[in-house]
Amino acid sequence: MTEENSPVPKHIAIIMDGNGRWAKQRHQPRFMGHRAGVKAVERIIKQCIERNVSVLSLFAFSSENWKRPTKEVSLLMELFSIALKQQVKRMHSNNIRLKILGDISKFSTSLQTQIRESELLTENNTGLQVNVAANYGGRWDVTQAVQALATKVCSGELKPEDITEDSINNELTTSGIFEPDLFIRTGGEQRVSNFLLWQLAYTELFFTDTLWPDFDSEDLDDAIASFSKRERRYGKTSEQLQGQEDA
Ligand code: IPE
Ligand code: IPE
Ligand code: MG
Repeated sequence: MTEENSPVPKHIAIIMDGNGRWAKQRHQPRFMGHRAGVKAVERIIKQCIERNVSVLSLFAFSSENWKRPTKEVSLLMELFSIALKQQVKRMHSNNIRLKILGDISKFSTSLQTQIRESELLTENNTGLQVNVAANYGGRWDVTQAVQALATKVCSGELKPEDITEDSINNELTTSGIFEPDLFIRTGGEQRVSNFLLWQLAYTELFFTDTLWPDFDSEDLDDAIASFSKRERRYGKTSEQLQGQEDA
């Protein structure tokens, strides 16, 4: 947990929304919006490195997005695979560590292999950590953590009373990664859509109407400027934080 006020968020989590509407505005198929969205991903990675952000978590495909038309889903899978092919070497040479969050067992075996190879290639890198949430759902994440803990209880490895927030944290897909400081959702909707539910407990939220493919460095700076003005109290009073009362 990062209980401190810092002007630059160490971990930024983004719901990259609005690709479809971006394409619609241009009388193009939705897929073109997703393609432009990938370009915006390349940009935000560069901008986060320039701003010394440590972790960037991007929501790319939710566990609910399977409900979309089959054609859109298969185009998104194809795009994911192409983007990995094109980007991973460059990410590696930029010292980026890539991690996929989500239930990848639902993907084709070739995509699963690609994901594992990309993670393996970059696992010892020490620069920006990029988490891509794919077939991810916050409820799924908590459920799989509970299952892992229940298995340990059944085998006698763990007592029910030893289950703590820390032991749940350790079983989440984000284990070992500090919680997001700043959450950004583009595209105008003001909801969390089953992203990092547990992890967002004390994250500062920022919503913008900018559609994801249009999100640029100015938008990022706006979000960071808004973040830097927030007082993160974590339940304490303002006076306590300013040292006027006992901590
Ligand atoms: C976000 O953009 C990308 C994914 C969910 C894969 P959308 O595709 O949801 O775009 P809108 O919300 O329809 O504009
Ligand atoms: C959330 O966007 C998921 C991703 C950006 C990957 P959606 O567009 O799927 O969210 P809802 O359906 O509007 O809540
Ligand atoms: Mg959307």
